Amino acid sequence: MLGLLAATDARWATVALADLDEVLRDHAHCEMKAAVHAMSLAARHPDDLGLVRKLVALAQEELAHFDRVVVLLASRGVALGPPPIDAYAASLRAEAAKLPHLPIAQAKLVDRLLVAALIEARSCERFKLLASEMGEKHPLQGFYTELLAAEARHYRELIELAMEASGEQVVTARLGLLAALEANIVRAMASAPESTRATIHG
Ligand SMILES: [Fe+2]
Ligand SMILES: [Fe+2]
Repeated sequence: MLGLLAATDARWATVALADLDEVLRDHAHCEMKAAVHAMSLAARHPDDLGLVRKLVALAQEELAHFDRVVVLLASRGVALGPPPIDAYAASLRAEAAKLPHLPIAQAKLVDRLLVAALIEARSCERFKLLASEMGEKHPLQGFYTELLAAEARHYRELIELAMEASGEQVVTARLGLLAALEANIVRAMASAPESTRATIHG
């Protein structure tokens, strides 16, 4: 789905739903990180106002998501707490940095957009699994169904921004390489002893 080359372990949704407070805590931090990442990309490209405005719009939407999850945490009496270590995103960025650089002026921007797009795709996939595991009667199923559609749209928007910076051919080839790295990370995490944690990406 959405360019992902490995499916999440089927056990994940069961583990996640059994510890929904932990999922919500991690989810809140994921939304905050997505907003911060979009703003940091905007700050790196002050000369491209079209790009800046699209990234600001994305950051605003992610912040709104963050706020909605924080409201849910508060309603459940759960503290946000410090951000959990996101080994998934850190590994993906580290592996992406090892690839030979694209021979184009906007190489770093394109990689950052595509890595962010894959993280959106993985969130979308996990929200879909979680919503399905919840079932129609669960009070948060509608919330996750709405958010998975938003994250799918973010995936497409980030891919479009990468295409504007480098063209379709470059993006298609690079996305394939990055998606293969992402799939390896997800498979490795699923086979680790501490796998299937109640976090969005872990
Ligand atoms: Fe979001
Ligand atoms: Fe998103």
